[in-house]
Amino acid sequence: MSESSAQGPPKIRVENATKVFSGGGADGVVALEALSLHVRDGEFVSIVGPSGCGKSTLLRILGKLESLTSGRITLRHDDERKPIDTILFQDSAVFPWMTVRANVEYGLRRRKVRAEDRLRIVDEFLAKVGLMRFADSYPYQLSGGMKQRVSIARTFVNDPEILLMDEPFAALDEPNRVLQQEELLSIWASDRKTVLFITHNLEEAIVLSDRVVVMTARPGRMKAEFDVPFGRPRAVYELKRQPRFGELAAKIWGELHDEVMRARADEEKASR
Ligand SMILES: Nc1ncnc2c1ncn2[C@@H]1O[C@H](COP(=O)(O)OP(=O)(O)OP(=O)(O)O)[C@@H](O)[C@H]1O
Ligand SMILES: [Mg+2]
Repeated sequence: MSESSAQGPPKIRVENATKVFSGGGADGVVALEALSLHVRDGEFVSIVGPSGCGKSTLLRILGKLESLTSGRITLRHDDERKPIDTILFQDSAVFPWMTVRANVEYGLRRRKVRAEDRLRIVDEFLAKVGLMRFADSYPYQLSGGMKQRVSIARTFVNDPEILLMDEPFAALDEPNRVLQQEELLSIWASDRKTVLFITHNLEEAIVLSDRVVVMTARPGRMKAEFDVPFGRPRAVYELKRQPRFGELAAKIWGELHDEVMRARADEEKASR
């Protein structure tokens, strides 16, 4: 974690967040229960946890797509000219009828950024994600990984203070996933936003993050957290070769494994 990010009150503050969905049994489904989490300004935090433990629910609440049943969430908004947050989902759609450039430009137009500034900013981000040559292509002319890069550029171009990412690389094959991780690391290095990143992939969590948080089986609470001690910049495969990487992954997996087993047992009980 960078020194500057340790300063000031948390950028994201979740206190005792509880979310109950009505339906699914007499009392409804308790997705989150008294979950607390602080994320510092400029910190990159990943969340891992069993399927159904409430990770997406937490992100959707942070993105104001869902309400909280009880508890409190505060996002510190420092620059009113910037959007406070943006969510990038696994299947974040690009508009098929717009060119790559128009897709990336979309948020800037909505925010009424001046045309010459739009051109400069879009060029900058197209170059960062390696899509300059495809600026005038349509999404159907791109591979899945390239489309995902368009989504990433579109997210970063909006310059939100907080990035909420829900398994953004889950649909990619391994080589493309690693490329995307490295691209995200390099974009993030030049523009240290506060990131909350959800993944099922422990190695991905370690490679990207300053801190990895493990959630319990549903109802989701924080179970354990691990500081990632590796410096930056990071090269994904070099990092994975280090013995300390394997040791950290094993420790995190130790915490996660119990919760995955518990989630599975709960599912079996419910289906009987
Ligand atoms: N809109 C909704 N209405 C009712 N129940 C919901 C709704 N959204 C989520 N849930 C329930 O809340 C729980 C948590 O769901 P959530 O999608 O947050 O899990 P998750 O941790 O993101 O899982 P995954 O890793 O599989 O994506 C699940 O039991 C789910 O069925
Ligand atoms: Mg989810």
